[in-house]
Amino acid sequence: MKLPQGPVTYKYIEVGKTLYQALSTRTPRFPSRVAYFMLNALFAQAKRKITLYDPFCGHGVLLITAYLLFSERLKKVMGSDINPIVVNTAQQNFQWLKNATALEERLQAIQGYKTQDEELKAIYQHQCRLMFKHAQEIDMAVELFQHDATHIHGVLAAIDGQVALVTDPPYSRNDHWNSNTGIKSADFGPLEPFLQQVATAPNVSSLLICYRTDQPILPLLEVYFSVTSQRGTKGRAIYECQPKSKI
Ligand SMILES: C[S@@+](CC[C@H](N)C(=O)[O-])C[C@H]1O[C@@H](n2cnc3c(N)ncnc32)[C@H](O)[C@@H]1O
Repeated sequence: MKLPQGPVTYKYIEVGKTLYQALSTRTPRFPSRVAYFMLNALFAQAKRKITLYDPFCGHGVLLITAYLLFSERLKKVMGSDINPIVVNTAQQNFQWLKNATALEERLQAIQGYKTQDEELKAIYQHQCRLMFKHAQEIDMAVELFQHDATHIHGVLAAIDGQVALVTDPPYSRNDHWNSNTGIKSADFGPLEPFLQQVATAPNVSSLLICYRTDQPILPLLEVYFSVTSQRGTKGRAIYECQPKSKI
């Protein structure tokens, strides 16, 4: 069997393989591949080291992907979520990356997976070891807290310097779009107040959002931002938003 070598990639970060997995919440798992795609788009633009903030951070996959793969481009990573359970999971994920006992626990958990495919387990365990080893070499501040993103103004105001927001917000549960008006703000849940506050915050350098391609969020984003979109992966598009006030 040939075990993977070389630097850590987004493939090593998948929740349920190498990261701690919360069994107690229904929050969907976010693919590290999409996170990598978004972060690449961000760092193609960013020249200096930046603070990165995910205000709908869930289990923290996006933040951990940034932390592990882009640490040399970052000052700090911050994440918040309205759900304290998932914030706790994100904290666990970060703590586990720095803890030798946690690595052993993680390896045992993978060993206990129901699959009989021993080779696959060995690959996950190897990836897990490489990921933990790489994490030991990173020294960067991480701040995680519970917060409702519809009141993001105060958090942004307290951040020292420029901040880039990169996020995977909750998707609407309502697929019955009003084709006459194009948008119906209530359908986007917390997004409208969030976008309003982000657009007027003086220290937000950029906002990257991923959203399901079958849900027409673009008209709402364009109310506040100048937007460029690109097709992402796994049924999501990525929207790069520049506040209109800064153009
Ligand atoms: C699609 S998930 C994000 C998943 C995340 N990218 C990850 O890596 O696990 C959306 C998250 O938004 C959170 N959320 C919903 N409404 C919110 C609000 N008003 N403020 C902050 N977070 C909220 C949910 O709790 C959920 O964790």
